[in-house]
Amino acid sequence: MIIKNICCIGAGYVGGPTMAVIAQKCPEIDVTVVDINKERIDAWNDEDVENIPIYEPGLSAVVKEARGRNLFFSTDVDAAIDKADMIFISVNTPTKTYGIGKGMAADLKFIELCARQIARVAKNDKIVVEKSTLPVRTAEALKNILDNTGNGVNYQILSNPEFLAEGTAVDDLMNPDRVLIGGDIDTEEGKQAVEALVDIYAHWVSRERLLTTNVWSSELSKLTANAFLAQRVSSINAMSELCEKTGADVNEVAKAVGMDSRIGPKFLKSSVGFGGSCFQKDILNLVYISKSFGLNEVADYWEQVILMNDHQKRRFAAKIVQTLFNTVSGKKIALLGWAFKKDTNDTRESAAIYVADYLLNEQAEVMVYDPKVKTEQIYADLDYLNTRSSEENRARVKVVNTPYEATKDSHAVAVLTEWDEFIALDWKKIYEEMLKPAFLFDGRRLLERKTKEEIGFEFYAIGS
Ligand code: NAD
Ligand code: UDX
Repeated sequence: MIIKNICCIGAGYVGGPTMAVIAQKCPEIDVTVVDINKERIDAWNDEDVENIPIYEPGLSAVVKEARGRNLFFSTDVDAAIDKADMIFISVNTPTKTYGIGKGMAADLKFIELCARQIARVAKNDKIVVEKSTLPVRTAEALKNILDNTGNGVNYQILSNPEFLAEGTAVDDLMNPDRVLIGGDIDTEEGKQAVEALVDIYAHWVSRERLLTTNVWSSELSKLTANAFLAQRVSSINAMSELCEKTGADVNEVAKAVGMDSRIGPKFLKSSVGFGGSCFQKDILNLVYISKSFGLNEVADYWEQVILMNDHQKRRFAAKIVQTLFNTVSGKKIALLGWAFKKDTNDTRESAAIYVADYLLNEQAEVMVYDPKVKTEQIYADLDYLNTRSSEENRARVKVVNTPYEATKDSHAVAVLTEWDEFIALDWKKIYEEMLKPAFLFDGRRLLERKTKEEIGFEFYAIGS
């Protein structure tokens, strides 16, 4: 089975970069990425490749090479489905905000809409690939919708979850630890579909990293991987609080623990709390699935990872208030960083949002600087919480273009995203322009304590 045309529905953080890399590596395949969001598609097509809607190191170069050659961005979803031999579904699967499973289950309405659109449009056989992260056994529902249209088209459903992390997406896609492909490996047609997708990745990924499984294992492995990663962060964050009470240092503990080859050093960096569009959503989904099978202990176990993370965000904000003599009312607090991690403009579930909201509830005046996040996004994130009116958010939060504007005349500075540029700031100048005592809170263990204390800062860092 030779794939000549690929369609990807969803031009977001996963669809865009993944398809750009497939197009770059497979010049003989036409790849069309479609989305109902016209603004997003227009941005992907922007003449100036630096204006593509997603900031990822190295991405604009890949897009520049392939766009217009065999990589296309379009809002014509029907045409792309019609033409494709293989269709990736890469739409968002957020936590449900209504009805049964509200606040827990994954909202699959966008997935179902895609399936119905494919069923309506397709005239020849298709391989449909789940790229979105989905609850285990979603492929069954997809197949049901696709097979019951009665137009004689045959579908193979594959699960091919994406493991890229934002900020390193291009490198993760170019050099993946593994590519997971789940399919109906008990049938000849299923095996052929799996092989077709394996052949695509084999253009640049060695065969031993291409892992094929049954569909359910693939779907569940994605949720499991995210749960394990998030659990490590919550585990080290739990220890960070104990470190602060005991005089241990969480970085030293993480290093000592991580040198055990059975544990390993990654994902043991204590922080103000994990954010991002995936960890919380996917664990909540896992909790929901476990509960729906009556596995209450399993559900409780994973839910604790989220509870610990919420605690960490709250605890950091509370520490600021407590340190500033138990009140931040009317005080100016500068937040450095809004993105959920460095090297991305994504702010979904960023700890900064919750820290800011907490401080605003305590009547602080908040100044924000982030090198990549747009001003409207910061207000939109706060408005989404519905804690106060959008007018009030705009009156009490100022977003500025340089870190020094944020920190000038402030009572305290808090580092919330580990952007490299924050390390090299002129901290002496910042200190001189702040009110005294000048408090500096490092939520990322980014800054060196000694030099900051020598300047004169009252320095607090997570986990020490
Ligand atoms: P996103 O919100 O950035 O992009 C999804 C896009 O799908 C949006 O642009 C939206 O307009 C579009 N869309 C929704 N319904 C559509 C429809 N019916 N037709 C056409 N377009 C439609 O989301 P994302 O971050 O790219 O995540 C997509 C999926 O990948 C999610 O399931 C997520 O859990 C998973 N995932 C995300 C990451 C990550 O780092 N962001 C990593 C791995 C997996
Ligand atoms: C994650 C998974 O890593 C990726 O495999 C999956 O496909 C999508 O979800 P992402 O959310 O983009 O990727 O970034 P990640 O690097 O995992 O960071 C998630 C959050 O955890 C960030 O807020 C980050 O700052 C935080 N984190 C990560 C820590 O606080 N400490 C760590 O040691 C690692």
